[in-house]
Amino acid sequence: MEINFKNRDIISITDFCREEILYLCKQAKKMFDLEKNNERDDLSNELKNKALAYMFYEPSTRTKTSFITAMRQLGGNSDGFSGIESTSVMKKETIRDTVMMMEANHFDVIVMRHPLGGSLQWAADVASIPVINGGDGENEHPTQSLLDIFTLYIFYNENLDGISIGFGGDLSHGRTIRSLSLALSCFKDIKIRWAAEDFLGMPKDLVELLESRGVVVIREKSVEDVMSKVQFYYMTRPQLERMGSITKNDVMKMMKKYRIDLNKVKKSNVKLMHPLPVNSEIAEIDYEVYFDESQAFFQQAENGIFLRKALLYEMLKDEEHVQFSGKLNPLLKHGNNKLKRIIKENVKEGRGFIDNIDNGTVVDHLLPGTEQKIVAELDLTNRGRSSIPAHLPKAGKSFLKTDLPGLSEKELKKITLISPEATINYIKDGKVMDKFVYFLCKNTNCVTRVINEDVPSKFYDDNGTMRCRYCRKPYLITSEKVSQKEKEEFLNSLPEGIEKTEFRP
Ligand code: CP
Repeated sequence: MEINFKNRDIISITDFCREEILYLCKQAKKMFDLEKNNERDDLSNELKNKALAYMFYEPSTRTKTSFITAMRQLGGNSDGFSGIESTSVMKKETIRDTVMMMEANHFDVIVMRHPLGGSLQWAADVASIPVINGGDGENEHPTQSLLDIFTLYIFYNENLDGISIGFGGDLSHGRTIRSLSLALSCFKDIKIRWAAEDFLGMPKDLVELLESRGVVVIREKSVEDVMSKVQFYYMTRPQLERMGSITKNDVMKMMKKYRIDLNKVKKSNVKLMHPLPVNSEIAEIDYEVYFDESQAFFQQAENGIFLRKALLYEMLKDEEHVQFSGKLNPLLKHGNNKLKRIIKENVKEGRGFIDNIDNGTVVDHLLPGTEQKIVAELDLTNRGRSSIPAHLPKAGKSFLKTDLPGLSEKELKKITLISPEATINYIKDGKVMDKFVYFLCKNTNCVTRVINEDVPSKFYDDNGTMRCRYCRKPYLITSEKVSQKEKEEFLNSLPEGIEKTEFRP
């Protein structure tokens, strides 16, 4: 197969196949060897005149600096922002406009970290230059997984089949465990063993997915049990920032049995990995372990530079600069999320719940009690629009009639955030002209749900599973009002997989 990373976005580790991962490991090993042979400068002109934009909406030490180091060592430049305080994001500038500004400044590649899931796919859709995901919320951090895999490759005699690895710490709220285990699932005879409290344990959906890909996943009672049976132990930091009301003390209690101390590693032969940072308050890895020969996490971090050098080189070598057009791709405007409902009734004949309206919009099948909230959210009263919210307890129906001739994408999102899967009816001269259900990703951290970001709601068909184009979480249609036929027609209309090429000039 032809392996080509030129002008390619790096969004999810699941976009990589076995051959591509092995190829990148081989290329990163060349960078590793150059460094260890004191030949770092041999490639110092390869990306001359190429520039990397870094856009870090969230803190980072390793990811940002290793991309900058990788670019510098290849002869390129880097510039951008770390933290939004000094940027116009503080003035409510969108992701789209900020990405466009990086392109307007003639950068050749963007690396970005953002708290919202799916924000990186959105940045990639907006940009004409390639975009690398440096972490999107809890979602993905693909270059971290690649450097983790590269570290295993180095320690495991340049091979990845047959690896046996233990996972510890917080396996539930971070992105590294999901991405690394999915990357490993491209290889043969992979065994994952883990031990953690339920709250911090491997998510069930991830275990099922890994098992469906042939990975053996075993929960053990203790860290010692895990360590006695694996070659590598991958510890992770409890992601307190993603745990809502759970406090540091709660986590300290949960972690008590699962912290890594010298006693545990001395009884085993593991190489101890960690994506870093270690939380010095929780101290999931005891200070004494830092000095033990099992400690491999600082070398793992350095491997990030070799891997990112290899990746940037593959993406940017021989590429001409992309000319900035200043134009947005029209595909950014619309989603593919409107399920067409079959129009059965003429309003006047129907005399049902959407009667007595000749021109306007009826929002039907609302969750009970949400009608007034929607009137307020759409600001109908102040706008001087008529609104007839109704709840019919006997019929179990809630709906809202307005004289609005149609709804904007923002209005549709606002309604859907309050009451998912309502039916929207546009009525003209007493006839229902359009009738549809508007789907919005149900992942509360998805970028498509942030109204002012204007991200169109898009889905794709992943072998029969409907997924959000942006955060890639599955979507299950739950409305009982949607018929099987309507559902099938809609699902058939979705693209198969993430189609990227259509977003590139
Ligand atoms: N491992 C990692 O992503 O580190 P930073 O958060 O410091 O970039």
